[in-house]
Amino acid sequence: MMRTRPLKVALLGCGVVGSEVARIMTTHADDLAARIGAPVELAGVAVRRPSKVREGIDPALITTDATALLKRGDIDVAIEVIGGIEPARTLITTAFEHGISVVSANKALLAQDGAALHAAADQHGRDLYYEAAVAGAIPLVRPMRESLAGDKINRVMGIVNGTTNFILDKMDSTGAGYQEALDEATALGYAEADPTADVEGYDAAAKAAILAGIAFHTRVRLDDVYREGMTEVSAADFASAKRMGCTIKLLAILERAADGQSVTARVHPAMIPLSHPLASVREAYNAVFVEAEAAGRLMFYGPGAGGAPTASAVLGDLVAVCRNKLAEVTGPGESAYTQLPVSPMGDVVTRYHISLDVADKPGVLAQVATTFAEHGVSIDTVRQQGRPDGVGNEASLVVVTHRAPDAALSGTVEALRKLDTVRGVASIMRVEGE
Ligand code: NDP
Ligand code: HSE
Repeated sequence: MMRTRPLKVALLGCGVVGSEVARIMTTHADDLAARIGAPVELAGVAVRRPSKVREGIDPALITTDATALLKRGDIDVAIEVIGGIEPARTLITTAFEHGISVVSANKALLAQDGAALHAAADQHGRDLYYEAAVAGAIPLVRPMRESLAGDKINRVMGIVNGTTNFILDKMDSTGAGYQEALDEATALGYAEADPTADVEGYDAAAKAAILAGIAFHTRVRLDDVYREGMTEVSAADFASAKRMGCTIKLLAILERAADGQSVTARVHPAMIPLSHPLASVREAYNAVFVEAEAAGRLMFYGPGAGGAPTASAVLGDLVAVCRNKLAEVTGPGESAYTQLPVSPMGDVVTRYHISLDVADKPGVLAQVATTFAEHGVSIDTVRQQGRPDGVGNEASLVVVTHRAPDAALSGTVEALRKLDTVRGVASIMRVEGE
């Protein structure tokens, strides 16, 4: 039975994502109504610049007073696509206080204040859905939160930032340097004018925090995620990776410790073998590889950004929240019952690719090998070659290790830097996915 009284939606923000949400709500109104069991009506649109022309949106719906829109008493669902911490946080809280469920795409806010927002939703018996906050259009939050709720996720490894994947893919396929690839990403509209959040890994770290919380049923905040950006990745690193049959990706990696008593969450560039499914993720696409005890290995792949793809995820949440509203139920809230601590990066165990500039003279290799041994880091392979720039008496030494704790590797590198024969540590890159 179709309810005739519409469910009223407040759209908070009408930029890249919000304008597409509004467009699809209008063009697909009949399908959405049929799927929900009631029409959904765009009841108000809060923006910062009211005079901006917004195609397809009735100017009478536009307001700069988002709080008044939420408080006016007839709104059922708010869609928050403003972004950032404030005013988004206060608006979402206000929505719950006024009996309004919320759909948000705001990874920064959820990574920072997810627990408090979930608590507020719970307190007021309302929904908080945020599929679009991680990996854009890719259904990931709901499959992890609901479809895999009966399984045990042990590891999640993914490419969750489209801008950086585009840059790294260009560097890999064309031999371009970082700046050249970034310029192309900017020209094509992938990278924002200020690309810091993407290239320094903050965006991926926020997504990693959200995914880790869902995967391990514990609380992981942005500050708990170890983060390294990808601005230092060089064409030489790609050449080294190629020699090893690898490429380089900015990865978010979330792991449950072998004893099950803690978790780790990190974002950094890493070499992965070309045979790994994540190696073939090109351009601005995202992909997330989930390893669960019973299900085995699952891969989620698709567009991780952009107005229409992100709006698709927002609208999926809108349908779910509206259905819940009609059924007078709420969907799953935060699940943080395991209360697992997040271990520091030093506890992470992985392999490393270290590139050293050394003096080209007898005994150097032995000295370097001894330093690794003294810190308990076992060497897998060593390759030495004269410096490509022809600098006399100097060589480039590339060491690939077996698996070792990050703390042991840091200690090794610190000691290597103190050796007279080591002129410099050109790069340190983790090797994953083997
Ligand atoms: P935009 O900057 O394009 O849009 C932001 C919107 O919020 C604008 O319409 C702006 O108004 C409005 N706004 C800003 N401040 C206020 C305020 N104080 N009160 C009311 N409205 C305000 O952002 P995006 O659409 O790109 O991103 C929105 C959210 O979606 C963010 O959380 C982002 O992280 C997330 N997201 C974005 C993706 C993407 O590809 N863009 C992908 C996945 C998630 P005005 O139009 O007047 O400037
Ligand atoms: N800047 C983000 C990216 C947008 O490049 O993936 C999607 O969250």
